[in-house]
Amino acid sequence: MQRDLVRRGRLSDDRPEEVMHFLSSMTADHWIADMDVLVDMAHLLMLRKQGIIDSEAAHALMGALLGFYRDGIPAEAYDERFEDIHAGKEAMLIARVGEEFGGRLHMARSRNDEVATCIRMRLRRELVALMEETCTLRGVLLETAGAHLSTIMPGFTHLQHAQPTTLAHHLLAYEQALSRDFARFADAYVRLNECPLGSAAFASTGFPVDREYTASLLGFDRPMGNSMDAVSARDFALEALSACAAMTATTSRLCEEMAIWSTAFVRFVTLADGYSSTSSIMPQKKNPDTAEIMRAKTGTVAGALVSALTITKGLPMSYNRDLQELTPHLWRGVEAAEECLVVLAGLIRTATFNTDRMAEEAGKGFSTATELADVMVREFGLPFRTAHSIVGRAVKMGALDLDTLEAAAQEVAGLSLRTRGLTTGRIASALDPAISVAERGAIGGPAPAETGRACTERKEKRAADMALVSSRREAENTAVTRLIAEAERLAEHE
Ligand code: ARG
Repeated sequence: MQRDLVRRGRLSDDRPEEVMHFLSSMTADHWIADMDVLVDMAHLLMLRKQGIIDSEAAHALMGALLGFYRDGIPAEAYDERFEDIHAGKEAMLIARVGEEFGGRLHMARSRNDEVATCIRMRLRRELVALMEETCTLRGVLLETAGAHLSTIMPGFTHLQHAQPTTLAHHLLAYEQALSRDFARFADAYVRLNECPLGSAAFASTGFPVDREYTASLLGFDRPMGNSMDAVSARDFALEALSACAAMTATTSRLCEEMAIWSTAFVRFVTLADGYSSTSSIMPQKKNPDTAEIMRAKTGTVAGALVSALTITKGLPMSYNRDLQELTPHLWRGVEAAEECLVVLAGLIRTATFNTDRMAEEAGKGFSTATELADVMVREFGLPFRTAHSIVGRAVKMGALDLDTLEAAAQEVAGLSLRTRGLTTGRIASALDPAISVAERGAIGGPAPAETGRACTERKEKRAADMALVSSRREAENTAVTRLIAEAERLAEHE
């Protein structure tokens, strides 16, 4: 059984079991283990190119690393007697090729720059996944919106019937919000994609390393500048987590609506059985548990963000072991955010919207009163505030018919609407929810012509965003393919 060789020189190895567990980042290191093998390969290629390591040692080491790449790192490397996967993997390499060769890989680096590089590489991949999953959900919202351009429903402010709108308008609101979440993930990627490798513990190294080369082998845009910042910065994690938190705050709103809309009071939606649960005692129950859990995931993600912020706050330069405690929060937050996007896309795709119920509610609660006031302004020349007061008073009197409006106009403003030309027919058309919606054709409004235009525009935006996803993914694949090819060349020919 290999021991943790990092500790061998300076420390005795009699750690209490609970301390081993306490010190080890092994559970979270499963997220970065594959990246670590790539980082090793890039580092080794650089050591060889720079003549820092001789060809025999490089050859032996690369052969072993390619073995880890193809068959996985040996399971023993994940044992918690190692403080982390970096130490565990190094012990396995030394077991495989001997210390004479295996003990040379860690020249010119530290676990500090190594782990920061691994986390950035894995997070980069997760950000691309988040971008893609955001696009998938946006696609579902756009498809559903496109099918409901003329599906009239009530819109709410303060959860009170406010003005009629359409289901398309409602869903497009979420799509637009999610497009900003996409932009936040994409933006976080840009700042993330710099390579800390070669910064060593924090003060860089006296070996003649080529940081441009390792950065490019690993698909980074450039090496990170200041080596002290490179090993100790975790603001990229804060950015990613805050983007996840903002995104789940939005998906949670939609889930809240699905829960409300599926109640017997509202009945705007029927969620598919696959996204529902029942009760162990009440046989009739169909509950929106998936939406509820997703609502709660916002708390998980926000908690991860707050944990990460609190851990980094006040840490003196440069690397401190506190940083190890941050990483699991990062993965927890990212994983929850991804799950939400995937599950919500399915929940909306399989939901049945009850358009009759929506239409039934659309005109309730005097929700077309604004349009009636607007008609008085546009057609009878009243100041908006006067029209607003007349209609408000008529609502207070209990009806929006010609007699009541006439009485309200006399009471509030001392004027007659009848003499200005208001008729029962004109009132009826102003109060028709579909007409009210059709009138609202300004940019961003619910009129079917406008939401139809918006759908087309948003689909184009989404396609452009998907193209960015593909190009990010392709760049990463190209880098990995090149790295492995170079690694194989070294293993075969040197
Ligand atoms: N496992 C550590 C982390 O996740 C990296 C190791 C650095 N250890 C050290 N004692 N400097 O941050």
